[in-house]
Amino acid sequence: MPTTSVALSPYSHGRLSLPNRIAFLATVNNLGRNRAITPELVAFYEERARGGAGLVITEGLSVHPTSVPNGTVPLAFDKELVPGFARLADAVHANDRPIVGQLWHVGRQALWNPGMQPWSPSPGRDPYSGSTPHAMTDAEVLEVMDGFAQSARNLADAGFDGVEIHGAHGYLVTQFLSPSSNQRQDRWGGSTTDRSRFVVEIINAIRERCPDDFVVGLKLTAHEYVDGGIDLEEAQAIVSRIVETAPVEYLGVSQANFSPSLEYHVPDLSFDDVPFAHLAAGVREVAAGTPVMAMAKVPDVETGSDLIERGVADLVGMSRAWLSDPHLVRRVERGETPRPCTYCNTCWHYIHTGRPVTCIYAPETGRELEARDEEASPAASEGRRVRVIGAGLAGLETARVASRRGYEVDVYEESSQAGGRLAREADIPGRERMGLATQWLQKAAVREGARVHLGEQVDAEVIREWNADDHVVVAVGAQPVVDDLDGAAAYSLADAWETRAELGGPVVIVDEMEDDPTYAVAISLANDGHEVAVVTRRDAVARNVAYVSRIGVLRRLDEAGVVLHTQLLPVRVDDGVLVARHVFSGKERRLGPVKTIVRAGPLAAARSPVPPGVDAVVVGDASAPRPYEAVFREAHTVAAHLDRIQP
Ligand SMILES: Cc1cc2nc3c(=O)[nH]c(=O)nc-3n(C[C@H](O)[C@H](O)[C@H](O)COP(=O)(O)O)c2cc1C
Repeated sequence: MPTTSVALSPYSHGRLSLPNRIAFLATVNNLGRNRAITPELVAFYEERARGGAGLVITEGLSVHPTSVPNGTVPLAFDKELVPGFARLADAVHANDRPIVGQLWHVGRQALWNPGMQPWSPSPGRDPYSGSTPHAMTDAEVLEVMDGFAQSARNLADAGFDGVEIHGAHGYLVTQFLSPSSNQRQDRWGGSTTDRSRFVVEIINAIRERCPDDFVVGLKLTAHEYVDGGIDLEEAQAIVSRIVETAPVEYLGVSQANFSPSLEYHVPDLSFDDVPFAHLAAGVREVAAGTPVMAMAKVPDVETGSDLIERGVADLVGMSRAWLSDPHLVRRVERGETPRPCTYCNTCWHYIHTGRPVTCIYAPETGRELEARDEEASPAASEGRRVRVIGAGLAGLETARVASRRGYEVDVYEESSQAGGRLAREADIPGRERMGLATQWLQKAAVREGARVHLGEQVDAEVIREWNADDHVVVAVGAQPVVDDLDGAAAYSLADAWETRAELGGPVVIVDEMEDDPTYAVAISLANDGHEVAVVTRRDAVARNVAYVSRIGVLRRLDEAGVVLHTQLLPVRVDDGVLVARHVFSGKERRLGPVKTIVRAGPLAAARSPVPPGVDAVVVGDASAPRPYEAVFREAHTVAAHLDRIQP
C-alpha cells in the first residue's frame, strides 16, 4: 500500500523548499579522487536523489588547505573544481531534489593524514588523533572564515541550493563552540557569545557572498558527552545566540565527538532506536521557529513521521538507512519495504580504513555505476535453472539476483531457517537487528520468483538427477572448528549459547573471530552471573569490529566484568585450571579455574555435497569464510555473471 506519511509530504519554510522531510545526511564515501568530483561520486548522490531524498547533503567538503584529511575529500575552496561540483548539482537537480554541500574543517581532529600541524582555537592535544594543534592567530581565524565563505560561493556558482556548516562531531566549529577545546581569552573564546562568534560570523559571511535564496543549514553537536564539553543546556545557549544573530534555514541536531563518546555519533545496533531524540526536542524548544532536523538511528520513514508528529523535530535526517537502501523514500512511496539498515557500522569501518563506502548487503552502495551496468545487462537465457545449495547470506543473494535476471531458481536449505551465520548471530542479545538482513533478502528472493525449500537436504544422489544444464551454486557456508583442549571438552559458540542454562562457570572463550558475536555472548553469559574470560592470541580483542562500535564492545565487556587475556593460546586444563602459552615467548602461565571452554572459531568451509563430475560454483563462506560484506559481494557478482562463469 502506498503511504501518506507526514515525513513524505513537501515542506516549506523561508528559503527552504523540500519535496519531503527525509534528508540524506552527510556521508563520507571515499569515492572522490585527487580531491575532486568523480563520476562514481556523482552516481552515489544521483542514486539517492533518484531514490527520493528530500534534501541531499554532501559529505564534508574541505574549506581550507589546512583541512585536507585525505585525497578523496573534495575541495570546496578550490574555484578550479566548480565544474565538477556543477556536474554533481546537475545530476541531483535532474531528479528534482535540492542539494546542499557540507562545509567542513577538521581542525585538530586530523583523523587520517595530517599533512601539516593542524589548526585549532587552542593548543590542547586532540584525544583521538593525538595531534597537537597550532593555536590559530586572529588573522588565521579570519582566513578560515573566508575559506568557508569562498567555498559557499563556489558551490553557489556550481548551482548548489545551499550549504550546511559542519558544526558537529568535534571538528573545528565544535572546537570553537566547546568550552573543553576552546580556552581562548580573546573575542573568539570565553563566554558562550564569544565561543559562538566564529560560527555566527561564518554564517553572516556566507550570506554576504551568496545569492539571497541560498540555504544555510547548521549541523550541531547538542551534547559532546565529555567532561567540561557542550551539554544540552550549553547547546541551547549556543542555539539561542545563533537564532538571534545569524539565523539559519535549519539546525541539524547531532551528538558526541571523536573522544570516547565517538560511539554515540553513529549509534550501532546495540542502541535503542532514536536514542538522541531528546536532544533534537531540547534544541527545538529554543530554536525560535527554525526548522530542526532530528537524526541518529532513525530506522525508517515511519519513525521519522512519528518524530515530526510528536513535535520532536520538523525534519528527519538519515545516513546509514540510505546506504542500505539508496531508494529508501521511493520504495516507501511505492508501498515496498526498503532494505533495512542493520546498524552494524561496516560502512563507517570501510571509510575510516580508507576504502570506498560499502554495506554488508546493499550491492549498489559504493559501486553505483557498476550496479547500473548490471541492471542493464542482458537477461538470462529463457528457462535456464539455478540450483542454490544453502540459504545463508550468499545463497539468498545468489537466488535474488539470479531470479531477477530471469532464471528459474531453487534454493535448498537443510535447516528449518534461512539466514545461516547471520541469522544465528541475530539470536544473541544486542545483535537482533542483523536478522533483518536475511529476512529482507529471503522475502526479496521469493518476490523475484525464487523457491526457497527449507528443511530440505540435498545429497550427491539428488544432485546427479538434476539436469546437466542447470547451474549449481554451492553456498553451504562454514562451520566452527571445535577442537577439544587437553583435559577439557570444548563447545562451539553457538552450542554454548543454546545450552547456556546448563553451562558451568567459570567460562573461558577462546577468541579466533575477533568479531561482535563472540563478545555479545561473553557479555550475556557474564550478565547471567557467570565468571567469563576471553582469551585471544592477538594483541587486542575486537579487531574485526568497526572502531566506532569497538568502543561500545570494550565498554560493555568491562561493565559486565569479562576478563580479557591477549597474546595467549590455551594449551590444556590441569586439575580444573587453564594453562595458556604466550604466543611470542612461549612461556606458560596458569590463568585460573575453568569449567567450560568455548571455541569462538575459526571457521572452516562446510563440505560440499556436489559429487565429482558435476560442475558447480562455490560462493561465500563455503569457498572461504570471510566478513559478511565480502561473502555477499562475491555471491552478488557470481549471480550477475553466472552465464559467463558457467557458460
Ligand atoms: C559512513 C559514514 C560517513 C559519515 N560522514 C559524515 C560527514 O561527512 N559529515 C557529517 O556531518 N557526518 C557524517 N556521518 C554521520 C552521519 O551524517 C549521521 O550524523 C550519523 O550517521 C547518524 O545518522 P544515521 O543513524 O542515520 O546513520 C557519517 C556517517 C557514516 C556512517
